[in-house]
Amino acid sequence: MKADTEVLIVGAGVQGCSLAYQLSKRGRRVMVIEKDSIAAGASKAAAGMLGAQSEWEGSDLFQEFALESRELFEEMVPEVEALSGMDVSYVNNGMLKPVWEKAGEDKYRRAAGRGYGAEWLSAHEALRREPALSKNIRGVWSIPKDGQLRAYEWTIALAEAARACGTIIRENTSVDRFLEADGRICGVKTKEGMIEAKEVVFTGGSAGVELLDEKDFTLYPVKGECLSVRMPHENLRHTLHTPEVYIVPKRDGEIFIGATEKPGDSSTGVSVASMQELMKAAVHLVPGLKHASIERFWSGIRPQTGDGLPYMGQTSRGLWVMTGHYRNGILLSALSGQWMAARIEGESVREDWKHLFAVDPQIRKGGVIHADHA
Ligand code: FAD
Ligand code: GLY
Repeated sequence: MKADTEVLIVGAGVQGCSLAYQLSKRGRRVMVIEKDSIAAGASKAAAGMLGAQSEWEGSDLFQEFALESRELFEEMVPEVEALSGMDVSYVNNGMLKPVWEKAGEDKYRRAAGRGYGAEWLSAHEALRREPALSKNIRGVWSIPKDGQLRAYEWTIALAEAARACGTIIRENTSVDRFLEADGRICGVKTKEGMIEAKEVVFTGGSAGVELLDEKDFTLYPVKGECLSVRMPHENLRHTLHTPEVYIVPKRDGEIFIGATEKPGDSSTGVSVASMQELMKAAVHLVPGLKHASIERFWSGIRPQTGDGLPYMGQTSRGLWVMTGHYRNGILLSALSGQWMAARIEGESVREDWKHLFAVDPQIRKGGVIHADHA
């Protein structure tokens, strides 16, 4: 039977859209099915930090992937902006990780060998570069290469770039289950009917978990809440990141403040206690923020896996899975899309990464420690 499309992707979050873009750029016939609208899930909630160093401790195979993904934004952002006609507010002005105690300074000094341009700055130097910081800090760990963008716009731009290369995106269409023939996943069932495909990819994030066979996966929700504000006069110059809070100044003056971490919670509200906690930590770090005006607040659900590593591989029934990027799905989206496209095309890819992200628990190995869970 002739398939309706070559590759069918379930979920138009940042992972699904990045993969659709890479595959359609290579000439594949791609269809994306989204139950809501493009970027309706975690990808809309993200602060957009490209924190390949700020959210990692130590160096491991996973961090190598993250660093490579961060590099790829330099090349992909202009390409995707040109194809989509959108501006994703990409800025590469670095992150500062302020420290209050000697123990914090020592920890970062030990990590300094990691390099990639990161350095310790005294309080004097930190305040020269970011005058709005609290005068009480001990110093900062400066990470000049961890940039940021607007995650929602990035996801929409990827979708538009994919469309420009021929991808069909069907919104407001929920996938009810996968179709299987001869032990292999060969399509999906939606309310409107069946869609058959040579390859099927799950990129449904936390909201799509019930589609997956539970014994193969450990995927759980981790809710995050954020708010945004504007300062009356001046914007901040850098993203600021501590274990309690992160502050991400967007190019147009909107400042994102995040985020809570609530494992197992997939509710949609934003609590007063969470906002109070985030605002308190933010004002402690940047006292001038108490004069800022609140713009909006929101929440999203991060897809987290049992061992903290994303799933990017194929099940024994031939279903491709690309999910579980947890706190770093925006950062990882650039290389994840390119890497999964190469895998689906049958190209040779790094074996160690293939093992690291495998769906089969016997093949999967490694592990990652996330440093500052702000
Ligand atoms: P999603 O964006 O959730 O997309 C999945 C899509 O699949 C959804 O649109 C959903 O509607 C659809 N879907 C689900 N089930 C079905 C179905 N049955 N049929 C059809 N469609 C379906 N990452 C960073 O790199 N930097 C950050 O600064 C950052 N900040 C964050 C802040 C917060 C508050 C949160 C919550 C997350 C943050 N993240 C950040 C993490 C990042 O947002 C996620 O890792 C990433 O968006 C996950 O993308 P995804 O495509 O896998 O999932
Ligand atoms: N990476 C930031 C967050 O997940 O909140």
